[in-house]
Amino acid sequence: MNVLPASLLFPMQTLSGKGKVTGLLPECAAFGSRGLLVHGRSLAASGVLERILAANPSGLETIPWQHPGGEPTVEQVDALRDVLLSGDVAWVAAVGGGSVMDVAKAAAGLRDAPLPTSAYHDGEPLPSSRVAFVAAPATAGTGSEATMVSVLTNSATGTKKSIRHPSHTARLVILDPDLLTSCPPALVAASGMDAFTQAVESYLSRNATRLTDHLALQAVEDINQSIETVFNGGDDASREALLRGSYLAGLALSNARLGLVHGLAHPLGARFHLPHGLVCAVCLPHVLRYNRDVCRAKYARLADVLGPDVEERVAGLIRSMAVANPFADEVLQDEEEVVAETVASGSTGANPRDVDAAAVRAILHALFSATGSTGA
Ligand SMILES: [Fe+2]
Repeated sequence: MNVLPASLLFPMQTLSGKGKVTGLLPECAAFGSRGLLVHGRSLAASGVLERILAANPSGLETIPWQHPGGEPTVEQVDALRDVLLSGDVAWVAAVGGGSVMDVAKAAAGLRDAPLPTSAYHDGEPLPSSRVAFVAAPATAGTGSEATMVSVLTNSATGTKKSIRHPSHTARLVILDPDLLTSCPPALVAASGMDAFTQAVESYLSRNATRLTDHLALQAVEDINQSIETVFNGGDDASREALLRGSYLAGLALSNARLGLVHGLAHPLGARFHLPHGLVCAVCLPHVLRYNRDVCRAKYARLADVLGPDVEERVAGLIRSMAVANPFADEVLQDEEEVVAETVASGSTGANPRDVDAAAVRAILHALFSATGSTGA
């Protein structure tokens, strides 16, 4: 196994600690005198937005922009790019969940790009960006703060794909456990299981290296030890561990890619408009079973962290956080299209075991069966 990936990408600086987010704007002042603060509705409701803006240093003009909610779309990115161009901003800071970070990251990265966002979503090469992107995650999480990736849905076509460029990577990340305080339990479960899945998939990825294995295993351990505590209300230590695990999983996936769960999650999430982490959670047991025979040594290492039966521990997490299979009463109308998208996905390409159409069909049939087995 290689020690380093062929290309290694990390955010430039990461600040960690309780209360650190109130120093966000003084940090942003280093990137220019005018910027945009992108946030979700909950940040305003919790009073955190007010605290961040109260620390705005003199001479810095900060424009707040509230994300409209829902999964991040190409259209939202276009709307935000218009705001950025008319405001002539030098930096974009995102304080929020994965949707907020992905829209802000893509808009910052494409501010000076000549084409509409849909063109890049369809595969046009991305130009390099000079706009500084800053991320403070308020869920744990997609790990978007650690990656160059934005996952976007084109509402017109229903296609969910990622855009990526190294210059989109955050110049500054702030990990503040206080931002998780107002995260509702269902969101802790869904986003936390996304982070957990990302940690496991990047660990098992065929592109894994010794460096990413270290990051991914620490992420699995951090998330495993904290997610149920945070789901049940949490304390500073558990929120800090969950946020750290999510970030480490983001670093690992950024440099090792993912696997079949994420290959399935994008087409299924786009069709059923479900939270990404929920789809990941219910697909993970099936994929763990599918990969087991080619990953014996790595499953043994996972067992050191998760207990002797890795699949049973995942099933236990799903049960204890009351994650139900959303596909149990659903009909998949265009199964063969989902199969084709899953097989073609870059995430599926990193899965440790080769994936063919028959394998994807078998997992889909189990997910959409009358019992709606989560494999748990
Ligand atoms: Fe994910």
